[in-house]
Amino acid sequence: MVQLARRVEHLGPTAAFEVLARANELARQGKSIVHFEIGEPDFDTPVNITDSAVKALRGGNTKYVDGQGLLELRKVVAEHVARKRGIEVSPTEVVIGPGASPVIFFVILALIESGDEVIYPNPGFFTYEPVTILAGGTPVPIHLWEEKEFSIDVDEIKSKISPRTKLLILNSPNNPTGGMISANGLKELADLLSDRDIRVLSDEVYSEMVYDGEFHSISSFPGVKDRTIIVDGFSKTYAMTGWRLGYGVMDIELSYKVAALMIQCNSCVPPFVQMAGIEALKGPQGGVKERLEIFRRRRDLIVEGLNQIPGLNCLLPKGAFYVFPSHKGIKMPSKELALKLLNEAGVACLPGTAFGEFGEGYLRFTYSNSEDNIREALKRIGKFFCSKKA
Ligand SMILES: Cc1ncc(COP(=O)(O)O)c(C=O)c1O
Repeated sequence: MVQLARRVEHLGPTAAFEVLARANELARQGKSIVHFEIGEPDFDTPVNITDSAVKALRGGNTKYVDGQGLLELRKVVAEHVARKRGIEVSPTEVVIGPGASPVIFFVILALIESGDEVIYPNPGFFTYEPVTILAGGTPVPIHLWEEKEFSIDVDEIKSKISPRTKLLILNSPNNPTGGMISANGLKELADLLSDRDIRVLSDEVYSEMVYDGEFHSISSFPGVKDRTIIVDGFSKTYAMTGWRLGYGVMDIELSYKVAALMIQCNSCVPPFVQMAGIEALKGPQGGVKERLEIFRRRRDLIVEGLNQIPGLNCLLPKGAFYVFPSHKGIKMPSKELALKLLNEAGVACLPGTAFGEFGEGYLRFTYSNSEDNIREALKRIGKFFCSKKA
């Protein structure tokens, strides 16, 4: 048998999809399952966006296009990012990708090589660590502490910086905790980086999902934009996870290389999908706020309910659509607990360890489900935890 390349040795299945497969298998066997595992909004993509794609398809927009992205969409993205962050952005700095994930993948591939260190949040989105290893780099986790509301600790970041540090990854609001980095924290970080040759990848895919206060991007602080790669997309804000559309904003030298990698991999993002992206950003924005208010009600409901269950403790997340309760009252590895919750209580969630080693002792629930289903799940979880304590 031909051996696989060593560079893929560390890659395994993604927990969310493993749990989804098991949950669907149980559902096929007739068991009732409440789903909280996959990080996607349960809303349909807004009709005006879908209609624009259908129109574009019927209009013949079905051929290869510019691998960096349609100039028209890049202009709209540049204007949108500039307005929201208070910075200057040119369309040449924008790269359109099939989702935010490929942008993260190609940026890391274009920047990182053997010997380079990448500082990243842990618990954090499950892409940062394996892709860093794939590129030959060394992942250096920063612990997001519950005691610090899952924000970053600038002193800890400082202590992790070495002469080999090339990239710092930030994600605020954060998946899986819903924690955010305050404007003060970002300012401190900006000062820390000012005399260091370190790039920042700021994953801002939840920038439009902030419940209290305002979203802040590190790119808005003086002198930081040129070293920052902003990653954002359409999946969460516009309920477009399956469309595969996202973007990055970065300096021109890097944007050309990321676009070149994109061309080698996927040639381009389908033009009718990109035209739907133009409609998403330029069309009516009322739905973004409406969906956020629905998520806010669900957030309040699930946090209150989880905190009433002995053994669980749940912070009120500031953004995104996840809760990350600790189950320190139940002495069991979180992977085992999540599996038991699924098999015995019919509630599908993810173990905190799906997001890194510092996720041990936590569970992640995506509250992308109706209030009725959240209430039903809370009943089931409560009953399950009572039986474990008895
Ligand atoms: C923090 C974070 N970044 C990026 C992504 C990827 O989003 P996309 O669907 O645009 O690839 C996700 C998806 O869950 C995420 O949680």
